[in-house]
Amino acid sequence: MMKPMITSLTLTLTIMSAGTAFAVDKDFTQINSKIDAMVAKSFPAGEGQDLSRLKQDETQKKCSVRANKPTATEAAEIMARERASIKYPESGNLMGDWKKGEKLVKSGFGMRIGVIEPDPVAKQKGGNGGNCYACHAISPKEVAAGNIGNSLVGYGKTRGTSAEIIQYTYDKIYNAQAFMPCSNMPRFGHNGIITAQQVADITAFLLSPESPVNQ
Ligand code: HEC
Repeated sequence: MMKPMITSLTLTLTIMSAGTAFAVDKDFTQINSKIDAMVAKSFPAGEGQDLSRLKQDETQKKCSVRANKPTATEAAEIMARERASIKYPESGNLMGDWKKGEKLVKSGFGMRIGVIEPDPVAKQKGGNGGNCYACHAISPKEVAAGNIGNSLVGYGKTRGTSAEIIQYTYDKIYNAQAFMPCSNMPRFGHNGIITAQQVADITAFLLSPESPVNQ
């Protein structure tokens, strides 16, 4: 979150002072790689450290270089690539078990970078999950919710449970960047943070008429 903000400010300042497209690209790339190096240095390797996420894939590189504003052609390329990564549960049923979904959205153990918990690795009991409340209000029962993402309270009640909505909700959770090229929402299924079945469980939590989200 910080990085795009810094780089977008830098880009603006560089455009103001430099004038030519070549100068902008060169300065921007230099500053960008300095930031990458600083970020990488702040996560030293060691027990419990997962540093694999410091390496950007093609989509992330493009979003960084464009300060999250890709051209229309680039946006279409990103969305096509991200869409192609979406996989479905073996059952083919995209509406899983909403009770399991409720636990998964609450779990704060979505993919983390660096030391995962202060406890030694062997003692960690978090399991995986989506940490959705970090960014979204979802169940009206949960008062501690972030607002980087829109409120999902009453999500199924307002949108219904047509096949299209189920499909959209599943796909969006699996890979948010199939719909918004440089979304701030993590690509949960794509990055293996949660499994395809768990995406279906969360889809049911958002859509099921029995779920507390829709009371
Ligand atoms: C780091 C913040 C962040 C996290 C964590 C996050 N989201 Fe999002 N989410 C967003 C943002 C920002 C948007 C709006 C931009 C977009 O559509 O990509 C969004 C959009 C959505 C949408 C589309 C909403 C609509 O109106 O169509 C759904 C559904 C959604 N999120 C579900 C989830 C679920 C379920 C989780 C947990 C598994 C989750 N999000 C975790 C940031 C987040």
